[in-house]
Amino acid sequence: MTQQQQNTKVAAVTGGGSGIGAAVAMRLAQSGHRVAVLDIQIDNAKAVADQLNAQRPDSAMAVSIDVSDPQSVDAAFSAIEKQWGQGADLLVNSAGIMPVASVLECSYDMFRKAMDVNVGGTFLCSQRAARGMAERRFGRIVNLASISSERAGVGRVAYGTSKTAIAGLTRQFAMELGAYGITVNAVAPGPVLTAMTEKNYTPETKAAFESMIPAKRMGNTDEIADAICYLCSDGAAYINGVLLPVDGGYLAAGVGTTAGIKA
Ligand SMILES: NC(=O)c1ccc[n+]([C@@H]2O[C@H](COP(=O)([O-])OP(=O)(O)OC[C@H]3O[C@@H](n4cnc5c(N)ncnc54)[C@H](O)[C@@H]3O)[C@@H](O)[C@H]2O)c1
Repeated sequence: MTQQQQNTKVAAVTGGGSGIGAAVAMRLAQSGHRVAVLDIQIDNAKAVADQLNAQRPDSAMAVSIDVSDPQSVDAAFSAIEKQWGQGADLLVNSAGIMPVASVLECSYDMFRKAMDVNVGGTFLCSQRAARGMAERRFGRIVNLASISSERAGVGRVAYGTSKTAIAGLTRQFAMELGAYGITVNAVAPGPVLTAMTEKNYTPETKAAFESMIPAKRMGNTDEIADAICYLCSDGAAYINGVLLPVDGGYLAAGVGTTAGIKA
């Protein structure tokens, strides 16, 4: 068996049909892994899987999933096991939604939907995949938190609360699964233009972010995918339970002006 074959793993990427998830699927396939692209928008998942299979035959499969539905999650992970004879060694929970509404206007339905998809979905997929990982005594789970896990933002009562919960969920899973050789970490991306943000961010939103971020620019999907793939790698075996900001320094920043300061 070659080194490449030994390192080939089965990966599952939820939300893999778009944005950060699609970039992760691409990178993991380029590293030699077989990638299940899971998404509620199955046509997008198929397009990504087709692209990966064109580059390397049988490197990808597309699976329909609603991460907030326990039966759909079970069926999707069973489909991976059936196709490739084992469950996922690597799981990236990138499926998510970003409803925007103020504290005074956010409906309970909107709030609950963000919790069901973002938190419930991460819980269900992680638990389902981790059962197989625990048997095999190896696994990597990477969750998509956000700078909104750590900082409040206007209009983000549903989204931000769900992303803070993902940081807590990550620690809970890391704590209990570490003994099985499984690591569970989260990345906290700063703003990145994807289908999710394109519909909400105006030029003013982008300019405001660019002025606040020490790197003075928004991120891109490949920069987030690189950090995720590192946490999925063998080299990251001793990193467990962390929330890794990938945000150009946004969360590190405080006072951004010297106005009025005397030397
Ligand atoms: N883009 C950003 O600026 C940013 C910043 C921080 C965190 N994030 C997080 O990164 C993750 C990916 O976001 P993105 O920017 O790539 O967005 P995106 O909209 O491009 O991708 C999200 C994907 O999730 C899928 N999805 C939504 N609901 C689903 C469900 N119930 N079941 C299965 N799939 C579902 C969508 O179909 C879509 O393909 C999200 O969790 C998001 O909160 C994004």
